[in-house]
Amino acid sequence: MSPTPPRDVPPRGLFISFEGIDGAGKSSHVDWMAQRWRELGREVIVTREPGGTPLGERLRELVLHEPMDEHTELLLVAAARNEHLRACILPALARGCVVICDRYTDSTYAYQGYGRGLSLDWIAALEREVVGAHRPDRTYLFDLPAEVAARRRAAARAADRFEAQDVTFFERVRAGYRARQLAEPERFVRLGGEARRAAVGAELAMAIQPL
Ligand code: TYD
Repeated sequence: MSPTPPRDVPPRGLFISFEGIDGAGKSSHVDWMAQRWRELGREVIVTREPGGTPLGERLRELVLHEPMDEHTELLLVAAARNEHLRACILPALARGCVVICDRYTDSTYAYQGYGRGLSLDWIAALEREVVGAHRPDRTYLFDLPAEVAARRRAAARAADRFEAQDVTFFERVRAGYRARQLAEPERFVRLGGEARRAAVGAELAMAIQPL
């Protein structure tokens, strides 16, 4: 039997990301999961990418709304991530927090790599330099057909630079996510975003157990 850890040793930080195509319904579940972890007695940080720091939020505004070359877009999301990781995520993990991040590097592979068609090797090189070993412990992938997500988005809000893309773009993004999941099945939990909110909540509640 392992000895009981001393009481003043904080719990190890836990890094969780949420991913999925726009309109997959992930954001409404982020707060639910944060609440769940708080009920379990953990300090929780909810954050997002691009964004999560004052500079990152300014970069987010540009990435979502300013016309730009696709490589510029890639470098800006990487710059925002570098800032976010060092100023927010790593200090929170060091304090033992549960960090719940709405999008992280899988978004870059899915959107800039599979969606925009930029070099996956270049994205991997950026990941190595910016993220290194600081990868999520668990990633919840909200997965649903691109045309279902498009209908949801149309009903919900005005489109930004990504949401204005056509269904084929989001089909590629979805395929990118599935490729990421297949490559690292132990990190991902796939949730069928087509299910009603309560059903996804129940799946999330089950998924939280092994962490
Ligand atoms: P999102 O976080 O889903 O916010 P909202 O629900 O308010 O629209 O949107 C952020 C957008 O940024 C999303 O369309 C995906 C895109 N994105 C990338 O293209 N690459 C990235 O690396 C990240 C983190 C996000």
